[in-house]
Amino acid sequence: MPQPLIDRYRDFLPVSSSTPVVSLGEGATPLVELPHLSARTGARLLAKVEGANPTGSFKDRGMTMAVSKAVEQGADAVICASTGNTSASAAAYAARAGLRAVVLIPEGKIAAGKLAQALIHGAQVLALDAGFDTALEIVRQIVERHNVSLVNSLNEYRIDGQRTAAYEICDELGDAPDALCIPVGNAGNVSAYSLGFGAYRDAGRTRRVPTLFGFQATGAAPLVLGHPVEDPETVASAIRIGNPARGQQALGAMESSGGQVEAVSDEEILEAYRLLARREGVFCEPASAASVAGALRRASSGGLRAGATVVCVLTGHGLKDPTTAIQESAAVKALPARLDAVEEALFG
Ligand code: F0G
Repeated sequence: MPQPLIDRYRDFLPVSSSTPVVSLGEGATPLVELPHLSARTGARLLAKVEGANPTGSFKDRGMTMAVSKAVEQGADAVICASTGNTSASAAAYAARAGLRAVVLIPEGKIAAGKLAQALIHGAQVLALDAGFDTALEIVRQIVERHNVSLVNSLNEYRIDGQRTAAYEICDELGDAPDALCIPVGNAGNVSAYSLGFGAYRDAGRTRRVPTLFGFQATGAAPLVLGHPVEDPETVASAIRIGNPARGQQALGAMESSGGQVEAVSDEEILEAYRLLARREGVFCEPASAASVAGALRRASSGGLRAGATVVCVLTGHGLKDPTTAIQESAAVKALPARLDAVEEALFG
């Protein structure tokens, strides 16, 4: 197993020798060059492939911290509201630690792979007739009334753990990139990157911090609109969020870096999703492709400097959402099992 993330970045994390480390070998994810998209944009585009984490998303970086601290503090259960990935990660790390996990999800609105993960790891899955925002509100009330540890990104340990993605990028590039493009949902991850880049610069590990560009889906863009969205809707189900818990913090972080938050349409997201898969060989989930959709949009409007090093965060694995992958692809051709039929299909 790779060294636990907590051990690799122990100096930057609020852990002590008595913290029990609950790890599945998270982090150390690949930073992959995107030659096709780089040629297209004139920038040097790289993908931080967070789908390579143990449960297939960046949440594992935060969850190893949140669950380790929950065990240290004597919690006997963890709880979260989720659009899918947090629930999958919480379920896996809780299983590893022998803790009970409870997850609240919007009914019928999370991708099949994520639901499968939460269920197989033995979490108690409660599907609410509501969106993520209402589910999170209920979770906040539960943790005030019961000895259950909240593992949404409102939990500071989640943010501490997720900062490590910024450390890894800087370690690999030898400095911070010029810009970071990242999808924004509940706004925890962009906040974590901002803090991570800042901490690394303050520790003298890098000279600068990158410009942060966050991307929401047009139908779920409260930070772009400047007010909550009642019924958020987007193909990118992971970021179908109308009232981000860390919205103000994230806006401040993006603005102070010289960047901003922008909306990308579902069409732009799906175009980037297909391009990544077909031209770069990188399969991410739709929400993740919002980062690349944003980079492409910025490049086409002159918003990315030629030659700039731009890291796009691909937050979750494509296998999380097989339904969208199949929908966005050509139909499978069924044939009789005969040589002539196969030759006809291949060569006409
Ligand atoms: N990308 C993916 C694949 C996600 O699952 C999420 C959030 C985000 C981006 C946005 O990150 O919320 O920190 O701004 N997923 C959460 C969940 C909400 O419940 O799995 P954020």
